Amino acid sequence: MWDERYAANEYVYGTEPNSFLVANTHMLQAPILSLAEGEGRNAVYLASQGLQVHGVDGSRVGLEKAKALARSKGVHITTEVADLRTFMPESNSYGSVVSIFAHLPSALRHRLYPLVEQGLKAGGTIVLEAYSEDQLELESGGPKDLDMLMTEEKIQKEFPHCEPIILRQLVREVNEGIFHHGNASVIQFIGRKKA
Ligand SMILES: C[S@@+](CC[C@H](N)C(=O)[O-])C[C@H]1O[C@@H](n2cnc3c(N)ncnc32)[C@H](O)[C@@H]1O
Repeated sequence: MWDERYAANEYVYGTEPNSFLVANTHMLQAPILSLAEGEGRNAVYLASQGLQVHGVDGSRVGLEKAKALARSKGVHITTEVADLRTFMPESNSYGSVVSIFAHLPSALRHRLYPLVEQGLKAGGTIVLEAYSEDQLELESGGPKDLDMLMTEEKIQKEFPHCEPIILRQLVREVNEGIFHHGNASVIQFIGRKKA
């Protein structure tokens, strides 16, 4: 389904980075692992800030577009086609992990997120934005599946080894390509791995 969505010439989530990520770039440390990177808008932005970033996604088509975007902006990113159901992040390796609109079923999150926490170095950070469960009522993007939508409680439970620096639910206007458009209910999270 994602390869099909990304087959269009246009960047369906745009080429501008996510605004929560941009506002919190100062919280990030390299090397960065970007989960479900898609067409590369966030990885390319991070690379343009001088940060080393590795983008992982299940869509080969999306990551080809990510590499093309990086070339067009004169920056370097590394990419890996991988299914997050089986992906194994390296332990104790990343300064930060980025997860922007990476909506995954709870069974997958329950396997992956402990590995993500292990993959972070002590003091490393996670920056995550996702649609909240309240987004189910709205038509501005995100999966129509409660299990894949987030709450503050889910974040707290699923990242027990990270101290929340920001954890909030809010309604904001999203304007990120053709699929994310309008007022949306989102969860924003920045967590720091406890020592
Ligand atoms: C809504 S897009 C967000 C893309 C990007 N993070 C952004 O904000 O532009 C969701 C991404 O999750 C990826 N994805 C979904 N399930 C996946 C899985 N099991 N393994 C790897 N990638 C997955 C899709 O390929 C898609 O690129």
